[in-house]
Amino acid sequence: MVALCIQLLTLLVVCAAANENKYITYTFKAWNMGDKPLQEQLAIVYKEMENLKHEQAVMKQKQDAMSQVLPHCPQKPLDTDVELNVTSLQSGQSGNHLVNKWLSEVEDDEGSGDDEFDAGLDPCNHYKALDQAWRATNYTTKRVVCDRSMKWRGWYRLFYRGKTIQMPEKCVKKEMCGTHSPLWLAGGHPRIRDGIVTRKVCGNWKNNCCLFKSHPIQVKACRGNYYVYRFVKPVACHMAYCADINTLVCGRCRKSESCISRDKITWMCRRNKRRVKANVHFFASYPGRISGKVSRIVYRKVYVNQGRAFNSRTGIFRAPVSGVYQFFFSSQTWGGGVTDLWLVVNGYWVAVSHNNVKGPNSVGNLSTYMTTLRKGTRVYVTHNRGRSWANSASNNIVFGGSLLMVRKV
Ligand SMILES: *[C@@H]1O[C@H](CO)[C@@H](O)[C@H](O)[C@H]1NC(C)=O
Ligand SMILES: *[C@@H]1O[C@H](CO)[C@@H](O)[C@H](O)[C@H]1NC(C)=O
Ligand SMILES: *[C@@H]1O[C@H](CO)[C@@H](O)[C@H](O)[C@H]1NC(C)=O
Repeated sequence: MVALCIQLLTLLVVCAAANENKYITYTFKAWNMGDKPLQEQLAIVYKEMENLKHEQAVMKQKQDAMSQVLPHCPQKPLDTDVELNVTSLQSGQSGNHLVNKWLSEVEDDEGSGDDEFDAGLDPCNHYKALDQAWRATNYTTKRVVCDRSMKWRGWYRLFYRGKTIQMPEKCVKKEMCGTHSPLWLAGGHPRIRDGIVTRKVCGNWKNNCCLFKSHPIQVKACRGNYYVYRFVKPVACHMAYCADINTLVCGRCRKSESCISRDKITWMCRRNKRRVKANVHFFASYPGRISGKVSRIVYRKVYVNQGRAFNSRTGIFRAPVSGVYQFFFSSQTWGGGVTDLWLVVNGYWVAVSHNNVKGPNSVGNLSTYMTTLRKGTRVYVTHNRGRSWANSASNNIVFGGSLLMVRKV
């Protein structure tokens, strides 16, 4: 009789132990055997078992309610969720095989429809701030996070304690960024003029920087040296998008600067190359006759002087920037004999407009010249000999030119 009781008791304890949970505490009554007849003792045991069942059901309800309140740290992974078998990965037994099998089984369950952002709003101005210090590349923890449990929607800008930060462009050591396999951006960040681009996302594991090929994400560079990312659920757990602590310096770059890095480790601000205004064009004419030697023709009738590099008082064109220039100059000779006009660049006579006519004939001549000039070089036309003819409307003694391209000499 006593033996049976003990057997029943053992059963009860085993049952309680099997349902052990940190939220459930069981209190066991002190049993006083022998005082009561067996039937009564059995009845008590059964009643206690019923109570325990009820208590367990209540605790389960509470637990479910709690995991709904805290969706990003579920007590138990859902069956449909993919759980990275870290034990098998670490032990190295058929790890890759297992992972690949899991990855291929996972389907992207995220609907990508996002009306707000498909409506053409600029994500640079319409993003959510993601400021979670545990995402930093220098953060290690035993408690790992999985970005599959995040409800990603629209665009995100990464911050670290209120300061703008970027995703790493280089492999991050495993067990950093508050997760097992840290996610980094393969292919680098885009430039502003690239607009929205799609980039691969890699997860490091087992010394393989891209063992996990996660879903690609969209990225956009914004004015003011920051980026926005359209994050999606990664392929498996536990993986999380990283924030590269080395890029904190980029948030301090000025508007006129870009954040650059050769090794993708050390980042620094560098001044953007200044864009030179490349609009330089002029066209001027001499509205009268010229005879004999005139060392510098003052083309005083100016039609075009874009960039204001031509001086109508001196007749001198001064190169405002270094680059490739093209000039033209012309004359109309009369009265016979030889007429020479020379283009003078930096003091050198480089091109001639030459005429040799007989008698009362008149003939026009146009010459062109193209060259690379340093900033500040002076260009003008000299009338070396002969006779040139024009009036205020004829425009046949002219001088003009254009900057074709800006170039360092
Ligand atoms: C994880 O992998 C190990 C070794 O391959 C295996 O013994 C264990 O059952 C696996 N765990 C799960 C939850 O699949
Ligand atoms: C990570 O880097 C930041 C910025 O340099 C620093 O403030 C923080 O203390 C670092 N955290 C760890 C865990 O090293
Ligand atoms: C125009 O000038 C060029 C050289 O500058 C010369 O060779 C050519 O004969 C001239 N044309 C006329 C019609 O005189």
